[in-house]
Amino acid sequence: MGNVVEVRDLKLHYFTSKGPVRAVDGISFSLAPGETLGVVGESGCGKTTIGLGMLRMPTPPGRIVGGSIVIDGTDIVPLSENQLRRSVRWQTISMVFQGAMNCLTPVFTVGKQMMETLQQHKEMDRTRAEETIVRYLGLVGLPPDIVRRYPHELSGGMKQRVVIAMALFLEPKVVILDEPTTALDVIVQAQILNVVKDLKRRLGLSMIFITHDLATEAEVADRIMVMYAGKVAEIAPNRMVYDRPPCHPYTQRLLAATPRLHAKVDELAFIPGAPPDLLDPPKGCRFQPRCSVAMDACGEEPPLIEIEPGHLVACWRCRNA
Ligand SMILES: Nc1ncnc2c1ncn2[C@@H]1O[C@H](COP(=O)(O)OP(=O)(O)O)[C@@H](O)[C@H]1O
Ligand SMILES: [Mg+2]
Repeated sequence: MGNVVEVRDLKLHYFTSKGPVRAVDGISFSLAPGETLGVVGESGCGKTTIGLGMLRMPTPPGRIVGGSIVIDGTDIVPLSENQLRRSVRWQTISMVFQGAMNCLTPVFTVGKQMMETLQQHKEMDRTRAEETIVRYLGLVGLPPDIVRRYPHELSGGMKQRVVIAMALFLEPKVVILDEPTTALDVIVQAQILNVVKDLKRRLGLSMIFITHDLATEAEVADRIMVMYAGKVAEIAPNRMVYDRPPCHPYTQRLLAATPRLHAKVDELAFIPGAPPDLLDPPKGCRFQPRCSVAMDACGEEPPLIEIEPGHLVACWRCRNA
């Protein structure tokens, strides 16, 4: 079976008064049916922008300026807003937005909000809609009586389950989860990861799981895509990233800075410096100014090359790995 998502050379820039912020700047990746792709990288590297781009709903002043996003066989970049609404958004691909659990309306019960979301997108009578809501609550491990509660009566983990259930209502093929565990404590994080893994198993969902935390990706992702400053630094099967050293110096640094994956905690390393300003990113390799092994060649941009089956790296040092 072909890939459910094929993104080619996608560029999404924010046209600010100071000039274009090149938040996503020529990235390519694919997603196989039933696969979970982890998207990881420091804050500001373009993760959320990729997700919003894939729904064709960039935050203003963002605009897709190049590339294609083929979802389930159709390039959605040239589609009209009408076509997107009718057959793509929420139906083929949906997203749990970063911080969505804090955006539930405080004045309505959970049931009322779920009902409104469902009926906005799908025509069904009340009884069927109620059944659907209860079924999806069950899928994310919540009891039916939650519908009568108000958001403030729920824990963070319960609210996160509610918004995940709402993203699944229209049975999309692909779901993007943007930092779904970030604001939660460790125990609740683990519970949400279990919900996500369970959904993947039971519904055969293809997922894009965005987080800044490599340890979280190690738990859920089949493959991991490491982003740096609007570009893909490395894509590799999950085990390849944490079982043996990844090749890109940025991925290596991320790994060394991730306590739960790094055995010798006293060696924990911070990555010096900060990601670049995407109004004026460095020429050549964008990681070069922070890279301890940079060389002359890095003044030119390294292409993303497959160095072994399924393992792609954009680093001049990894060419002969
Ligand atoms: N609405 C916007 N206007 C201008 N710049 C933005 C906007 N949204 C995001 N950016 C910039 O785009 C870059 C990528 O942001 P984002 O996709 O949110 O990163 P991440 O999710 O990895 O933290 C950052 O440099 C951010 O400042
Ligand atoms: Mg983000």
